[in-house]
Amino acid sequence: MMNAIIPAAGLGTRFLPATRAVPKEMLPIGARPALDIIVDEARAAGAEKTVIVISRAKELIRRYFEDAPDVAFAYQEEQRGLGHAVLQAAEAAGGGEPGRTLVLLGDALVAGCNASSLLAETSAANGGASAVLLEHVPRERISRYGIAAPRGAVPPGPGPLRIDGIVEKPSPEEAPSDLAVAGRYLLDNAIFGFLATQAPGLKGEIQLTDAIRRMAAGRPLYGYVSPGRRLDIGNPDGYFEALCAFREAAAKGE
Ligand code: UTP
Repeated sequence: MMNAIIPAAGLGTRFLPATRAVPKEMLPIGARPALDIIVDEARAAGAEKTVIVISRAKELIRRYFEDAPDVAFAYQEEQRGLGHAVLQAAEAAGGGEPGRTLVLLGDALVAGCNASSLLAETSAANGGASAVLLEHVPRERISRYGIAAPRGAVPPGPGPLRIDGIVEKPSPEEAPSDLAVAGRYLLDNAIFGFLATQAPGLKGEIQLTDAIRRMAAGRPLYGYVSPGRRLDIGNPDGYFEALCAFREAAAKGE
C-alpha cells in the first residue's frame, strides 16, 4: 500500500507579501491551484490517500479539498522544517504499517512527466526500495540543495541509479555529484522511525535528508534522474517560470 504526504505548512517568506494573502501552494498554474496538480500527480502514481500538512494559517487549503474523499490533513503547529512536517502526517498516512510513502513538496512542480510514477516504478523494480527524484544542477546552485552520492556510473540521460546517500547543501568542492534532490521522494515507512529520532540540523530544522541519509546506511536507496524540469514556485521568479513551462506543455497538448 502506498499513501502520499504533501508538506504545505511552510511560512513562504520568499514570496511575501503575496503569501499573506494566499498560500504559495495554492497559487494558480493556469486555472488550477498548484496543490491540485500535485494531489493529482500522487493519485496517478497510485497513492490511495494523500495527507496534506498545513498550519492554522492555511485553512483555505483544507476548504479547497473538502470534498475529496482521498485527501486528509495534518497540522504542523511550529515550522520546524520539512522532516518535522512529514512526521506530523505519519499517523494519518499509516506510517506505522509496513509500506512506502510518497512525499511531494507542495511548492515544487515537475513539468514534462509524472515524477512520482517514475519513483513508484523504480521502487517496484528494486524490491520496494526507497527512491528520490534527482536533477542535474549547475555548479553555482549545488549549495542550495540536497545532493546525491551516486554508487557507480550516472546514466547519461534520464533513468534510475543506485545512490549511497544524500548530503544537505554541500559546497561545490565537497559535493559528491551535481545531482540535486528534486522535490519528490518515495520512502520506506521506516523513515518515520528515523524522523522521530532526528536531531535538528541545518538552520536548527529537522531535515528530511538527514533522516534519509541515516536510513540509507542500512537500506538500499535509488535515485531517478528526472526527464522533466523541477519548478520551484516558492519565489516569484520560479513561479513565473512555472507558469511559462505549463503554458508551453498545454500548447503541446501534454
Ligand atoms: P520550503 O523551505 O521551500 O518552504 O519548503 P518555506 O519554509 O515555506 O520557504 P521560505 O523559505 O519561508 O520561503 C518546501 C515545502 O515544505 C513545506 C513548505 O510549505 C513547502 O511546500 N514546509 C517547509 C513545511 O510544511 N513545514 C516546514 O517547517 C518547512
